[in-house]
Amino acid sequence: TIPVIAVDGPSGVGKGLVTRWLAQRLPGWHRLDSGALYRILALSAHRRGVDLHEARAVAGLAPRLDIRFEGASEDDERILVDGENWTHDVRRESTGALASKIAAAPEVRAALLQRQHDFRQAPGLIADGRDMGTVVFPDAALKIFMDASPEERAQRRLKQLSAKGIQATLAPLCEEIRARDERDRNRPIAPLKPAEHAEVVDTTGLSPEAVIARVEELVQR
Ligand code: CDP
Repeated sequence: TIPVIAVDGPSGVGKGLVTRWLAQRLPGWHRLDSGALYRILALSAHRRGVDLHEARAVAGLAPRLDIRFEGASEDDERILVDGENWTHDVRRESTGALASKIAAAPEVRAALLQRQHDFRQAPGLIADGRDMGTVVFPDAALKIFMDASPEERAQRRLKQLSAKGIQATLAPLCEEIRARDERDRNRPIAPLKPAEHAEVVDTTGLSPEAVIARVEELVQR
């Protein structure tokens, strides 16, 4: 079977950094940004005027979307949906909030399951999300759960957004992240939590280099 490395954790914890680094470290390996799929589905429903509470209607859009990810780094990332460039709008904080609303619906999660499994291709997959190790790839060879304090995650997210030219201010961003965490951790289906046997990496106070070094250690084992 094709090996999977599952990297889960809350918003702004640095999963993108770690999974992109792993994708470069392991030649040919694919990367799944599952959060982007939830973001794209939410945005697509929103744009078509579909009520986000209508889980069946939202889920029904999932198989029809033509989604392409281009670019290996965050800076040259391009997200194409039905041929249009959605990168900027997908990465907005408001889109993250919409995503976490639809993500609580079992119908939506079920509809995205097959699309996520499709990313599992040779020689291997690095999967970034909330439930990669618990639900989507329970047989993953390595499961990493990253965490950090909400304040630190808000700081990191602020930097990341401003680097992309997306405006944000710290206090509301911190609030937004807390609200989203709460929703993600307390939902009845696929709640955000470490998988059994997951390696928990607390990145509070760690530099990106230190986080990478810790992950390198885990991959070496
Ligand atoms: O980038 P950030 O961590 O802020 O968010 P994301 O990974 O793009 O995910 C956006 C939202 O989608 C999350 O807040 C979750 O509610 C949902 N999500 C999920 O439920 N399961 C996943 N595997 C990935 C994302």
